[in-house]
Amino acid sequence: LPGSYYGLEGTNVGGNYRMNDDLLRPDIVLDPYPFYSDLRERAPIHWNERWRGWVFSRYEDIATLLREPRLLVDSMTPYFNSKLDANQQKELKPIFDIMSRWVVFMDPPDHGRVRRLLSNAFTPKMTESRRALIEDVVDDILTSLTGSDQFDVVNDFAYPLPAQVTALILGAPRSDLHLYRDWADDIVTLIHGGVGEADRLDRAKITMLDFRDHVTELVRARTASRRDDLVSALIDAREQSDALSVDEIVALSMLLLFAGHETTQNLLAFTIYDLLTHPDQMVRLREAPELIGDAIEEVLRFDGPMRGSTRFVGQDFEYAGAELKKGQRVLLLIASANRDPAKFERPDEFDIGRRPNQHLAFGYGPHFCLGAPLARLETSVAIPALIKRFPDLRLESEQLSFYARILSRAISSPVVVRVNRVSAGHS
Ligand code: HEM
Repeated sequence: LPGSYYGLEGTNVGGNYRMNDDLLRPDIVLDPYPFYSDLRERAPIHWNERWRGWVFSRYEDIATLLREPRLLVDSMTPYFNSKLDANQQKELKPIFDIMSRWVVFMDPPDHGRVRRLLSNAFTPKMTESRRALIEDVVDDILTSLTGSDQFDVVNDFAYPLPAQVTALILGAPRSDLHLYRDWADDIVTLIHGGVGEADRLDRAKITMLDFRDHVTELVRARTASRRDDLVSALIDAREQSDALSVDEIVALSMLLLFAGHETTQNLLAFTIYDLLTHPDQMVRLREAPELIGDAIEEVLRFDGPMRGSTRFVGQDFEYAGAELKKGQRVLLLIASANRDPAKFERPDEFDIGRRPNQHLAFGYGPHFCLGAPLARLETSVAIPALIKRFPDLRLESEQLSFYARILSRAISSPVVVRVNRVSAGHS
């Protein structure tokens, strides 16, 4: 190939080759991996005219660029300040005020400060200490399913779990758990958008304001009297004399609910789907239950809930021949990196014993997912419990469908499993 990159539009590499640039073409939404493989081979770094940004698909480049300080994550401030008129700004200010405090959209120096304070409170140790709580939530959900001939893994099992767990970890009363599910849904819809969801901004605004009031109240209650929960820990988090403001605690609580909801839901659904569609691997897991941790890492690599991450060029620079200009968008296809044969042997094979497995499903570098320990813990509690309670699960259909989104790979169809009534509950 001439050079290390070339544009997709109008190029004629190899005669009349012209590559597709539609990241949302239905066959690609359904199964992006053949397309990613093509990109890695033929256009690993390219300007995508339709998406209007640079697209990277190789592991090495993505791992490097996730740590590149000249690439920024704050897409919101420039959008808010320059793309919206005064009326729209007024209308959307309440949402902007909350989301601009989300660590995932912050750049240095603010990012370091808020991330340190958040990680002071939301530690892997604190997460592990919630194991019993997660076991209880899983047990309740499984009990509600016992007795049915079939259920939908996505809606009946994977969907309620993360929102309930996040709510309980934050310190919400059990009576409010149902609210968290709806809130989480509306926020996910706002961020990822979606065809036919035109009222999403209105719904999200109402949600955000309701949620803000709810958490503000929680913070007020915990300020008066601490409990063993995350809101109390966020109030107490300190970096020297610095602490999080009430607005920051509210915004970060909302981020945790959003960031952990659909991602973990899909990780749970993919885990059960991948095991049921690879019966040899299911047998292997049954024979060696201690493989559950490695199995989850393999699902994250093989079928991770995120397709990509976006960045903005903060200052002009050249990368492997590509001239990145200030303000341009960059898409880092982490799901493609996770199937890169230059990094993984037999990348398209699902192997629950794979080691090493340095996938990028949780990102890499300064924005590495703060909820990774929680997502891993929830999945490692939930999946063995599900398999134990329902040892004869069978998929009704292997056909899945997905929301048409560039950044996430979220299942939109039910994943119905049939249960053998005789054995359910007696393992
Ligand atoms: C399977 C589940 C999950 C996946 C695949 C996932 C994926 C990711 C990815 C790829 C990033 C980096 C984004 C970037 O670099 O642009 C990220 C960041 C983040 N995630 Fe997760 N996540 C998951 C679960 C969670 C959970 C359960 C929580 C919390 C309850 C959470 C909280 C966060 C936060 C706070 C960040 C931002 C960190 C920062 O910007 O410094 N995530 N996640």
